[in-house]
Amino acid sequence: MNPFERTRHFFPVTEAFAYLNHAGVAPISTRVEEAIGRFTAEATRRGALHYFKVYDAEIERVRGRAATLLGAQPDEIAFVKNTTEGLGLVAAGLDWQRGDCVVTCDLEYPSNVYPWWSLADRGVETLMLRGRDGRLPIEAVEAALLNPSVRLLALSSVEFGSGARNDLAALGGLCRERGVLFCVDGIQSLGCLPVDVEACGIDFLSADGHKWLLSVEGCGLFYCARRVLERVTPRVIGWRSVTDNENFDHYHMDLQPGAGRFEEGTPNTPGIFALGAAIDLLLELGIDAIAERVLSLTDRLVDGLREHGAAVLSPREDGAGSGIVSFTLPDEAPSRTVERLRERDVFVIERRGGVRASPHFYNDEAEIDRLLLAL
Ligand SMILES: Cc1ncc(COP(=O)(O)O)c(C=O)c1O
Repeated sequence: MNPFERTRHFFPVTEAFAYLNHAGVAPISTRVEEAIGRFTAEATRRGALHYFKVYDAEIERVRGRAATLLGAQPDEIAFVKNTTEGLGLVAAGLDWQRGDCVVTCDLEYPSNVYPWWSLADRGVETLMLRGRDGRLPIEAVEAALLNPSVRLLALSSVEFGSGARNDLAALGGLCRERGVLFCVDGIQSLGCLPVDVEACGIDFLSADGHKWLLSVEGCGLFYCARRVLERVTPRVIGWRSVTDNENFDHYHMDLQPGAGRFEEGTPNTPGIFALGAAIDLLLELGIDAIAERVLSLTDRLVDGLREHGAAVLSPREDGAGSGIVSFTLPDEAPSRTVERLRERDVFVIERRGGVRASPHFYNDEAEIDRLLLAL
């Protein structure tokens, strides 16, 4: 039995469905369920009696685990309510000048477009590069960054529709050469593919917990590299943004020395308990091993789809493969294919004109074959 088969019992969802929608909203494991139970048991029986020993201790432990997952330091991590919040902190907090330019592309999920568009009234232009066959050619980014007005590159680690994996190390290298900030929407890879913020020269990264991290909605991670922390002014300041924040009698505005300054008030403690248990499981298995497993399952799916005459829309060559496989069948609308699969308890969804399947490590070959058979 491989280590992933041994984790299957943590995912009772497998008893009912071939759940292949981790790029949408993932199911949680019983390990996460238990962690939430630990929180609710404490809150129910003792309230906040042991706030520091139980709640605060877990919050800081999880911050450390999140840092390990990203190759960051704990003081570079803030908990946020979703991906959008982290991206919005960057958009709202940088010292923009009229005429500055942000580069992104038309393959992005709206949460990595609107925060930049919202800067139009401050004179910031957003350049939308055009994807080709589901992928953003790196040459297009290289050419765009020649424009000296470009201040920031905002891209996803993996594009939500096509599943194209962007080469973060190469993009980060281009940004460094041009002195451009690099901001990553990491939600479609964190928990599934390795992300090393330091090695890739990423300045900011944001991801909610409810996809590949296998946690709950409403509690995610925002990474802000130490070297750029002072360049982002937090626009929402509250009691927790400052140092010595348990001293409520003395008002001051000395911001916390790390990314904790972006957590302005009471945190989503149950969400953090959940996220901690989810990250523990991922780190136990190892992200490299998880990536290998997910790519092997998606390779099997791609091969099978091609044998069935389906058109695979996801780029898979040159390291562009990810946990997302998008496809269409000849002579069938994607919505109909999704419906037919749903009738056979295979859960996929439609995105950007394709049927999108996204298995995680605990899915198995039999479930992939079930999808293929159901077609
Ligand atoms: C690439 C990408 N970014 C962001 C999100 C969601 O953003 P948020 O966590 O703010 O809800 C999704 C969800 O589908 C996504 O695919």
